[in-house]
Amino acid sequence: MKTIVLTNQKGGVGKTTSSSEFAYLFAKKGYKVILISFDQQGDLELQLNIGDKKKYSLLDCMQAKCRIDEAVIHQSCILIF
Ligand SMILES: Nc1ncnc2c1ncn2[C@@H]1O[C@H](COP(=O)(O)OP(=O)(O)O)[C@@H](O)[C@H]1O
Ligand SMILES: [Mg+2]
Repeated sequence: MKTIVLTNQKGGVGKTTSSSEFAYLFAKKGYKVILISFDQQGDLELQLNIGDKKKYSLLDCMQAKCRIDEAVIHQSCILIF
């Protein structure tokens, strides 16, 4: 398994956009992809139009309010967290 982290302390520099584009391109190439977002604003979910499918956040997992598999949203060829 390979892990790619896109990070920058500045907002609005393209982290979310690049993450979803990379995920799409890798999934299209046949890789299994999971996107993990810690953004409280939920920009990634908004961008991928899956906000209504989200039941739990990564914080919920860390606080043991849910299991990890309950927080994963399965989306055609891309898994979104
Ligand atoms: N390569 C790019 N060219 C032009 N605009 C971009 C590019 N990447 C992102 N944006 C735009 O910049 C804004 C911020 O991008 P976003 O991915 O939300 O940044 P971040 O996650 O770093 O806060 C969005 O409106 C997005 O559409
Ligand atoms: Mg963002």
